[in-house]
Amino acid sequence: MPAEKILLVDDEKLVRWSLRERLTSEGFEVDEAENLAAAERRMAADFYDLVLLDHRLPDGSGLDRIAPIARDFPESAVIMLTAYGTVEGAVRAIKAGANDYLTKPIDGDALVAVVRRVLETTQLRRELRRLKEDQKKVHGPANLVGRSPAMRAVFDVVSKVAGSAASTVLLTGESGSGKDVVAKAIHYASDRADRPFMNITCTAVPATLLESELFGHERGAFTDARVGKKGLLELADGGTAFLDEIGDMPPPLQAKLLRFLEDKSFKRVGGTRDIQVDVRIIAATNRDLAEAVRTKQFREDLYYRINVVPIALPPLRDRKGDVPLLAQHFVLHFNREFKKNVEGFSRRALAALERYGWPGNVREMRNVVERMMILEPSGTLHLEDLPSEIRGEPGAASETERAFRLPPGGVELEEVERTLVRQALTRADGNRTHAARLLGVSRDTLRYKLKKFGLAGSASGPEPDQVEPGA
Ligand SMILES: Nc1ncnc2c1ncn2[C@@H]1O[C@H](COP(=O)(O)OP(=O)(O)OP(=O)(O)O)[C@@H](O)[C@H]1O
Ligand SMILES: [Mg+2]
Repeated sequence: MPAEKILLVDDEKLVRWSLRERLTSEGFEVDEAENLAAAERRMAADFYDLVLLDHRLPDGSGLDRIAPIARDFPESAVIMLTAYGTVEGAVRAIKAGANDYLTKPIDGDALVAVVRRVLETTQLRRELRRLKEDQKKVHGPANLVGRSPAMRAVFDVVSKVAGSAASTVLLTGESGSGKDVVAKAIHYASDRADRPFMNITCTAVPATLLESELFGHERGAFTDARVGKKGLLELADGGTAFLDEIGDMPPPLQAKLLRFLEDKSFKRVGGTRDIQVDVRIIAATNRDLAEAVRTKQFREDLYYRINVVPIALPPLRDRKGDVPLLAQHFVLHFNREFKKNVEGFSRRALAALERYGWPGNVREMRNVVERMMILEPSGTLHLEDLPSEIRGEPGAASETERAFRLPPGGVELEEVERTLVRQALTRADGNRTHAARLLGVSRDTLRYKLKKFGLAGSASGPEPDQVEPGA
């Protein structure tokens, strides 16, 4: 790493000399300027990580230069040198935008400590800014692939919502159809992009903890609450909160969420103070919420409140036109990730991809392409490289018939079921929603079966859906 550059602006030669000695011995590169005019010339010609700026200079006040420097050179930090040691001067310097100040006579150790701290802070800020820019690129709308009319309609709503003040969005669609991707695209395309995107999966947190996860709690609110804690909504202030699997939110919480959506304020668990936040709520579910309303599992008023801007993601089988585009998108993606050079799919392989029903939607396709590309170093992916269920020779026995043959001695049906449930959990990495989908049953049915087969908490039946930390 090149040495960090510091510009020393002071009219006293002796001060410059002693500061320079010390800073150079610490490995910094130091330039000098004896007045403001010289400092400006230097800054116009060269980038400085840090400017040490004297208060009184022959051609003007250093204090008055802080604000213009902060404006014109936002990447350069400023430390004010003040001869008088008055608190007032220091306060004015900080208010004008200086990162810190030092009082003369300057102690060498204090100088190095303050310089290092300021440089570290500005470095961290710069990194954070860069990370945020990367996030925008990785998760922004450019990352959404599709050209089918259905997806074009989705993109259209996404860009309209992102640019609007709409405070709630409801995403529906089967597992793997792109709800997470769309939620992030909305956030990163909006003017909330520099603020947090926080996400919580309602089913991944025990019902008893969900309220405090969402709304936070005060100290002493319950037995384990030794310290107060901010909830997801407070942490997401100014940004977006993504509430996944909202259909499974317990009814008392549904009521509290509704109150929040109407007032934009809430109380922490065990608290009395109203807390105001500005958060866009994106809710998602793969359940039929209207049906859940009919069966009284979901509050009707909340349903209408979050259904203001509904976005329904069609299953992949209903937008076959997107299949070649997505396939190529994932090939490029994994070429980058695995440093490979695969060109794409042969015509026959593509035809098979388009024929296949994709019960796991885009996620399944991503996994299939990933698996194929781990094995294939370069060139073209052929029909023979595809997993057998996708190759699916037309006219042959159904997939089920091919996969399962009754042995001559018969089977224990429960044992077969138990084995399949366990396999589904493993393949879904323990995510019960995905596992249920693989088995074609509801989450409730799966939960019941896990209990029945004693797989609920065992090592082979991993824990429920993981909590996904905010991006
Ligand atoms: N339109 C799309 N363009 C590019 N990639 C997509 C698209 N839709 C989905 N994907 C990919 O598919 C994967 C699964 O999508 P996502 O996680 O958004 O599904 P989901 O609807 O949230 O599923 P679940 O209900 O299981 O949470 C994503 O990681 C992403 O790689
Ligand atoms: Mg999801």
